[in-house]
Amino acid sequence: MNTVIDTIINRRSIRKFKDTQITQEHLQIMLKAMEAAPSAGNIQPWSFYVIKNKDVKKQLCEISFNQTALIEAPVVIAICAKPKESAATYQQLGQDFFCIQDTACVAQNLQLAAHSLGYGCVWIGIVKQDDIRQTIKATQSEQPVALIAIGIANETPAAYDRIEWQKLTTFID
Ligand SMILES: Cc1cc2nc3c(=O)[nH]c(=O)nc-3n(C[C@H](O)[C@H](O)[C@H](O)COP(=O)(O)O)c2cc1C
Repeated sequence: MNTVIDTIINRRSIRKFKDTQITQEHLQIMLKAMEAAPSAGNIQPWSFYVIKNKDVKKQLCEISFNQTALIEAPVVIAICAKPKESAATYQQLGQDFFCIQDTACVAQNLQLAAHSLGYGCVWIGIVKQDDIRQTIKATQSEQPVALIAIGIANETPAAYDRIEWQKLTTFID
């Protein structure tokens, strides 16, 4: 097809990583891809934390039900939403809905950029928001939405497993 479509279709979650660092240049490209994400009204209600510190990664792992990808990965990026910034334009809808969608776009841009640069990654869902916020020292106005653990893959991912779009799609002509 083309390289973008190939990247989208071939990305898989990776949960085991080699003890190899991510180059600074690649990290900055990933951050640039995150910055490029779309957002409602182009408000960009987000902030990013790039975590390499072993103690902080260990704490994130413990808070996240001991998902060891958070320790093994050389870099974990926390993506936070800023609900108040969305609410200033879109009120409740911005606060509850748009800012979360916006940050999900950031997370997927990051996953695709990482994959295209030869890295593996996994999105770790945030359950204990307050604990994560405290650990990364984010402010009360930042809502942690996703942790993305990134590194060189040390596993072969499972085969692509999806409900075929034909079963899910209605055409309204
Ligand atoms: C919102 C969200 C939360 C997720 N949380 C976790 C998680 O906590 N742990 C994990 O191993 N994978 C997590 N994942 C990754 C999914 O399990 C994975 O994307 C899904 O199984 C499809 O597999 P694939 O990414 O290899 O295509 C999460 C994905 C999303 C979008």
